[in-house]
Amino acid sequence: MNLNLKDKVALVTGGSGGLGKATCLFLAAEGAKVVVNYRRSAERGDVVVKEIKEKFGTEALAVYADVGKESDVLAMFEKIDETFGRIDILINNAAYCPTCQVADMTEQMWNHTLQVNLTGTFLCSREFVKRLLDRRQPGRIVNISSQAAFRGSTTGHAPYDASKGGIVSFTVSLAREVAEKNIMVNCVAPGLMHTEIMDKALRANKQKYIDRIPIRRIGRPEEIARVVVFLASDGSDYMTGATVDVSGGLAMR
Ligand SMILES: NC(=O)c1ccc[n+]([C@@H]2O[C@H](COP(=O)([O-])OP(=O)(O)OC[C@H]3O[C@@H](n4cnc5c(N)ncnc54)[C@H](OP(=O)(O)O)[C@@H]3O)[C@@H](O)[C@H]2O)c1
Repeated sequence: MNLNLKDKVALVTGGSGGLGKATCLFLAAEGAKVVVNYRRSAERGDVVVKEIKEKFGTEALAVYADVGKESDVLAMFEKIDETFGRIDILINNAAYCPTCQVADMTEQMWNHTLQVNLTGTFLCSREFVKRLLDRRQPGRIVNISSQAAFRGSTTGHAPYDASKGGIVSFTVSLAREVAEKNIMVNCVAPGLMHTEIMDKALRANKQKYIDRIPIRRIGRPEEIARVVVFLASDGSDYMTGATVDVSGGLAMR
């Protein structure tokens, strides 16, 4: 299948590790020019850019932004405008996940999680859609939710779970707003991957998690990234507003 990603410009938020990094590499493998957003470490962003250039010979750029801060998001999109003059694909992947039971949770902890995960998704989507509408250009957004949006968790992740549920609803509303403009907005709800965000929980309780997964293993970022890249491509032309479960059967109903 021709995914038709060659020379498309794609922004991946939280692109310097885990699922974000895997997505950056798969997009580049298909010939896309990749903007690798990072927050904590410019060095980690540069490592992904170097790997993309060496392995695939496509253009790549690491750009700092805390996606929960409007000024950072505006500056990131300006940098993309300056460098590439266009953008075709947005992957809203960045996320923050504190661990705390609701009874002990501060308002700050709740608000910060919603700010990064949900407001960050909104801010990046707004800047992306504005540009595409101005330029009368088609495009693709892929939002990263979680199976926790539907099942919640017992281990103290309520604001994260709520933010991921919000991302599912936001996907549907934005998809309805821009469908006629040929901007498709879809969502992926991954199950468990052994990345930094899940490292502590998986180290403590790996077998307990595996026992709940019908296919009996933890997922690899690459297995989720393949679906993300499909949704970012022309292969998914007739899909919008969908949330795709990629959880090894964990979320099956
Ligand atoms: N791992 C799982 O089991 C699992 C399950 C379901 C869904 N997911 C989702 O998959 C996505 C990727 O997570 P992952 O598993 O790859 O974990 P990860 O390696 O911890 O990745 C999270 C990414 O988010 C970035 N990030 C956090 N706060 C940010 C902010 N304020 N601004 C910009 N970037 C920020 C981090 O960048 P910095 O390090 O630079 O802050 C990091 O690159 C997330 O949306 C997560 O919710 C993961």
